[in-house]
Amino acid sequence: MPRQLFVTTALPYANGNFHIGHIMEYIQADIWVRHQRMMGNAVDFVCADDTHGAPIMIAAEKAGVTPQQFVADIAAGRQPYLDGFHIGFDNWHSTDAPENHELAQQIYCDLRDNPGGSLIESRTIEQFFDPDKGMFLPDRFIKGECPKCHTKDQYGDNCEQCGAVYAPTDLINPYSALSGAKPELRNSVHFFFKLSDPRCVEFLQHWTQDGKLQPEVANKIKEWFTVRTNQDGSTSEGLGDWDISRDAPYFGIEIPDAPGKYFYVWLDAPIGYLASLKNLLTKRGQDYDAYMANPDLEQYHFIGKDIVTFHTLFFPACLHFSGRKTPDNIFVHGFLTVNNGEKMSKSRGTGLDPLKYLSLGMNPEWLRYYLAAKLSARNEDIDFNADDFMARVNSDLIGKYINIASRAAGFITKRFEGKLGEVSEDGAALLHLLRSEAGAIEQLYEAREYAKALRETMLLADKVNAYVDANKPWDLAKKPDQEARLHDVCTVCIKAFRILTCYLKPVLPALATQVEAFLKIEPLSFANISQPMATGHVIGSYQHLMQRVDIKQLEALFEAPEPLETQQEITHPGGEAIAPPISIDDFAKIDLRIARIVDCQAVAGSTKLLQLTLDVGELDDAGQPRLRNVFSGIAGSYQPEQLTGKLTVMVANLAPRKMKFGISEGMVLAASHADEKTQPGIYVLEPFAGAQPGMRVH
Ligand code: MSP
Ligand code: ZN
Repeated sequence: MPRQLFVTTALPYANGNFHIGHIMEYIQADIWVRHQRMMGNAVDFVCADDTHGAPIMIAAEKAGVTPQQFVADIAAGRQPYLDGFHIGFDNWHSTDAPENHELAQQIYCDLRDNPGGSLIESRTIEQFFDPDKGMFLPDRFIKGECPKCHTKDQYGDNCEQCGAVYAPTDLINPYSALSGAKPELRNSVHFFFKLSDPRCVEFLQHWTQDGKLQPEVANKIKEWFTVRTNQDGSTSEGLGDWDISRDAPYFGIEIPDAPGKYFYVWLDAPIGYLASLKNLLTKRGQDYDAYMANPDLEQYHFIGKDIVTFHTLFFPACLHFSGRKTPDNIFVHGFLTVNNGEKMSKSRGTGLDPLKYLSLGMNPEWLRYYLAAKLSARNEDIDFNADDFMARVNSDLIGKYINIASRAAGFITKRFEGKLGEVSEDGAALLHLLRSEAGAIEQLYEAREYAKALRETMLLADKVNAYVDANKPWDLAKKPDQEARLHDVCTVCIKAFRILTCYLKPVLPALATQVEAFLKIEPLSFANISQPMATGHVIGSYQHLMQRVDIKQLEALFEAPEPLETQQEITHPGGEAIAPPISIDDFAKIDLRIARIVDCQAVAGSTKLLQLTLDVGELDDAGQPRLRNVFSGIAGSYQPEQLTGKLTVMVANLAPRKMKFGISEGMVLAASHADEKTQPGIYVLEPFAGAQPGMRVH
């Protein structure tokens, strides 16, 4: 019976691009999903952006756009990474989507109205409030002097100098990191999920200790049931209740029947798994409730070790006590470091830039292979090491595996019209041995023991290479009476290569597709591994399958970008280098038009922006002039009346952008130096006399 699986990775925060740690998690999950599909199982593999919370709201404000626009911009940048590394999510969604608002609110109401007694409680708590910003401050936005060692400018939860852990209220001379204002203590009603309720404790003790979780994960969780560290560094007994609400202004989901209150981002984030699935099913015309009601459905989440509490306590408890299915397992991985570097910063993601890797022409499957060769079912950290990477790819992947095909295929094509021949006893025994490992390798993939699966596969490749070395097809080829043996040996190699390709396919999907085309065979799966290619089967001619890693690529990958000063010395006009060349077709995509600035106004609440009303000669459906609204960051250089009535040039086909103050429908062209600090000044472009609004600029 095929299994029905629902699989996710963690939802990345929508405040930056992916770093290599994200890519590692996605590759780990993607390999597992591909393995399941090769076993004939049905999988729905989804992810989404984690969009809510104070940090994203504040970052959006700084960027001068709405949080919705901010997260949409981040979402727009996801696909090149996913496509680039062959990460095959079936759906990418957002925790701000309607499905998630609805599901989070339903789950909350079901918890509140639990027939065995409500699991939601409201309590008044005291919290720092920024009077300038008019908002309660999350701990990380409160700074002050450490109460222990008196170092200044420390965060609200712990001191980076002496390591002391404390509550924000312990800080000496606290100030808001947002406005600098002195925060005031204010009361506010918060909602709590009663994790300390005996029903929850009993359920979670069982759920976390019934043997499904990785042993090291389950052991760590066990400690949380006995002691817990409080915010001020003291300890208490047992599970603490969980504060699930935040006060407006907050970018999040409104709590039903509680005006001005929003769900804390970590409440709605994992529900985003379900929202993304629901969105996928809806697009396919499938019913979400029926899908979730299937008793055979298996649900798995791949996550990193830093977010275990949310996934093994809060999330299962929320689901269970709202009458929903809980995950069948949570698969926890360790952190990826780069070249023995420290743990990558979540925000900076230093080390290995995934897009730079791709842009250098480095093969994404090298990285998939290398990471798989290091991954196990344990949540230990792994390190990307450049020398190790090159050795594993060049000597194992290319040297042991790819070479089997490149050595044999030429003879089959040149000497035997591409036809496979008969296989004699020694070759048949070798192929039998290779095939007999299928079960063991399947099991290793299933158990996420990828390193072991690849080690087994490479041991088999060693056996094939030993067979090649013993039979020396290149010598056989020189002896006319050895024609049949040459055909036999090369046929064995090609058949062995097919089996090895099947074992590597979850890790190397694109390569496997190339091999399938070259061998002219059906897509490989564990189900058809035992059906060998027939004698007389014609294969295609060998095309180079994979390049070796070049040390120069690795050097370029880890080369620090040139510091700005030296770049400027090599005479860069306007303070920056000329951009890489584009084609005339690229340029033609930008529709530049002459525009008349019909009106120009200051923007209340912004010192940077001016609001322009532009006429580019367009008419609306009723034949009336259609005017465009554009926000431009030129208030530092112009007074509104200097611009009103003038002609300028605008980008007329820029997608509209939701800014904090309204929608911007284009961009006016203006010149500035790259170093705004030492060479300020923005200069709006104005055409020579005679140009008319609407004329295209070529
Ligand atoms: N938004 C939360 C997750 C919500 S899940 C409902 C979050 N986002 S994150 O962007 O910070 O991290 C996303 C995933 O990437 C997490 O599983 C995290 O553990 C993982 N990683 C972040 N840095 C990593 C490495 N350096 N190495 C491996 N995985 C890492 O947490
Ligand atoms: Zn200190």
